[in-house]
Amino acid sequence: MSLQEYITKTEEFVQSLFQDDASGHDWWHIVRVRDMALRLAQAEGADCFICQMAALLHDVADDKLNSSEEVGLKKVDDFLSQLGLPERDRSAILDIIANMSYRGGQKAQKPLSLEGQCVQDADRLDALGAIGIARTMAYSGHKGRLIHDPALEPRAQMTLAEYRSDGGTAILHFYEKLLKLKDLMNTDMAKTLAEGRHAFLETYLEQFYAEWRSER
Ligand code: ADP
Ligand code: NI
Repeated sequence: MSLQEYITKTEEFVQSLFQDDASGHDWWHIVRVRDMALRLAQAEGADCFICQMAALLHDVADDKLNSSEEVGLKKVDDFLSQLGLPERDRSAILDIIANMSYRGGQKAQKPLSLEGQCVQDADRLDALGAIGIARTMAYSGHKGRLIHDPALEPRAQMTLAEYRSDGGTAILHFYEKLLKLKDLMNTDMAKTLAEGRHAFLETYLEQFYAEWRSER
């Protein structure tokens, strides 16, 4: 199989899993992360094939979508074995997927390969800017959370259970995750893009609070 055939087969597999998801993990999130990971990989001189494969598969093992992370990773491993991908590529891809997630900033993470850094940056960029705001609102609606509650303060230190709990609001998620991402980017290009998207979040929040107070 050619590299392009591996990618096409992987696109079909992932699309079949995600096409009906409206919780922020939809197929178009995967496409955006793949496209951005490829752009970052080209800028960084990373392996474009590994980046694309890991980007396409990065949410398949998500612990929110599987009974456990192990079960999710096995799903990815089984798929890659069935594709007939060489062991070396399989472990490079699995290693990225197992170590890139944010999870409330909880887990001490193993250093990522250059390809992993590109995919992680691409995933994090998709949580920022106009698209990040849309995804946060969509996810909050999906979970039945409020847009905003002025009585709630951002939780500085959270356990994973608290981070995943239904207690928060969409606006709190900006403080608990989105506004922290800018400083967590790995690659120079992602750092630059994150600056712009971060500034957009701040403009958005400023307008949001002004409207909340009936000022604008
Ligand atoms: P994580 O990386 O923390 O596991 P995901 O990337 O799976 O989260 O989240 C999918 C989308 O939903 C992202 O845009 C993310 O910012 C948003 N999201 C995640 N958790 C929350 C939350 N508690 N409230 C609102 N949006 C959330
Ligand atoms: Ni993702």
